[in-house]
Amino acid sequence: MSAWRPGDRRADTASMLRVDQAGEYGATRIYAGQLAVLRRNCPEARLVARMAAQEQRHLTRFNTLMAERRVRPTALQPLWNVAGFALGAATALMSEEAALACTDAVETEIDRHYSQQLAELGEDDPELAADIEEFRAEELEHRDSARAAGAANAVGYPLLTAAIRAGCRVAIELSKRV
Ligand SMILES: [Fe+2]
Ligand SMILES: [Fe+2]
Repeated sequence: MSAWRPGDRRADTASMLRVDQAGEYGATRIYAGQLAVLRRNCPEARLVARMAAQEQRHLTRFNTLMAERRVRPTALQPLWNVAGFALGAATALMSEEAALACTDAVETEIDRHYSQQLAELGEDDPELAADIEEFRAEELEHRDSARAAGAANAVGYPLLTAAIRAGCRVAIELSKRV
């Protein structure tokens, strides 16, 4: 094993795990908020339920990695609990299309975030990189199925998605630090 020397770049994988776990947790809360509002068994609700099950799988995996590596979760977890659910419920209350636009926006930012992490990780942590790679592919599927189901038909789509994306970027930066 090659020794780390001052000046070598090494990815901060604990911080990565913390923000990723926070993001997947937030995703489960968003979809829970949407499912609380959407009519049972409407096509959008069925799509959201499928995505929610995958988010739960992502979250469980990051929970396991955090426990194994003794990484503490973000202190902002209680905030993401409420903010995620509120975002999901609010968009679903606007319309089915707005709920889909929310997924479109969130998954766009998650894709950007995971891509950045993979570039930063390089060969540093193949175990974590493999999970991120796999989950990123599923987030892209979520984004694409939301778009295919008509996300862009939401009233105010450009403004709505821009606002949600900005919120996601703030949440990501905060969860890296706190
Ligand atoms: Fe996810
Ligand atoms: Fe997702």
